[in-house]
Amino acid sequence: MSVLIRGVRLYGEGDAVDVLVADGQIAEIGVGLAVPDGSEIIDASGQVLLPGFVDLHTHLREPGREYAEDIETGSAAAALGGYTAVFAMANTNPVADNPVVTEHVWQRGQQVGLVDVHPVGAVTVGLGGAQLTEMGLMAAGAAQVRMFSDDGVCVADPLVMRRALEYATGLGVLIAQHAEEPRLTVGAVANEGPNAAKLGLAGWPRSAEESIVARDAILARDAGARLHICHASTAGTVELLKWAKAQGISVTAEVTPHHLLLDDSRLSDYDGRNRVNPPLREASDAQALRQALADGVIDCVATDHAPHAEHEKTCEFATARPGMLGLQTALSVVVQTMVEPGLLTWRDIARVLSERPAEIVGLPDQGRPLAVGEPANLTVVDPAARWTVDGEHLASRSANTPYEAMELPAVVTATLLRGKITARDGETPR
Ligand code: DOR
Ligand code: ZN
Repeated sequence: MSVLIRGVRLYGEGDAVDVLVADGQIAEIGVGLAVPDGSEIIDASGQVLLPGFVDLHTHLREPGREYAEDIETGSAAAALGGYTAVFAMANTNPVADNPVVTEHVWQRGQQVGLVDVHPVGAVTVGLGGAQLTEMGLMAAGAAQVRMFSDDGVCVADPLVMRRALEYATGLGVLIAQHAEEPRLTVGAVANEGPNAAKLGLAGWPRSAEESIVARDAILARDAGARLHICHASTAGTVELLKWAKAQGISVTAEVTPHHLLLDDSRLSDYDGRNRVNPPLREASDAQALRQALADGVIDCVATDHAPHAEHEKTCEFATARPGMLGLQTALSVVVQTMVEPGLLTWRDIARVLSERPAEIVGLPDQGRPLAVGEPANLTVVDPAARWTVDGEHLASRSANTPYEAMELPAVVTATLLRGKITARDGETPR
């Protein structure tokens, strides 16, 4: 089957062109292309064509918490959000600390067929922080696990982290750290600062994140290892990343849409939908994160899509589970925080949502140039359209979102995975 995308601007630049997709690849780019027999037409005049988005950080909850999300519902959310590849974190039940689980996640994702679901393997057995997993076995399977993380918890023991970095370097895989010194966050639920103090919420200091970022940068330096920092959330982390990169340390970092847009002034009504780890910080942190993403100090955006069921969020703030939906709102939040204020162009959006994440994790068929012969992993966006978030109508199994009723810019109108339409006008194919 072929697909003709008509009148679209590549990366939002230059004149509108037609893009013909056939046999899973970009077959032709030109003006006024003929419509091959039986091809599907996407009228994309005034719209932007980007390489399909790649999310390095998502929680799909399968196996174990399918009441909150599963690979099918999460894949639909991903495709509708413009994603062609996502990395599913290992904090499932059972934990993805062995090839049985990682192979299941990969195969199930392929079966659903809406997005490539790459399993993230755990760094330590059961996320226990003590014994390294058999990363080599997970890397060698069909799932080709290439990223390892205990996300949800930090690899807190410095010796374990050092060994993990050494082991990963030998295998050529990436360690992604959830930077949180657990001794500094016992009982913590909100950013340590005036807002938490006023509200009587236990404070989560920035130093819990920054001390681990600094420590791990130094461990990576000495191991000659690559290190990826999950969900950077503070202005101090930005300074540490700048320092580490200036030293030539091989460190990369992601920021979430929610840490770019939201801050802890939202906590005043104790709404559990705003609870997340790391916590929403202050507006000045969000500002520093935006600037760092614009400057390339932070490499990319990752959603940390972390669905929880209604009863897990609609409760006392301190008991609400941390995490929020992210896949279907990510692009719009990044456009609002970065493109509208002039910090990023549409060309840059391709970099932070697709090219850099694909590069960081070494995905050969994602984040590719929009050129003839390249794999047709593509996202079409209407930059002028706006939409209002309605949790009940998101594809995720969970409906609670901090963006409820917000009007946001930019709508994903189509997503193609290897030339197959996986989302179109808000629907996934049945
Ligand atoms: O808010 C979060 N939710 N942060 C994490 O690190 C884990 C995630 C989850 O799994 O719910
Ligand atoms: Zn995390």
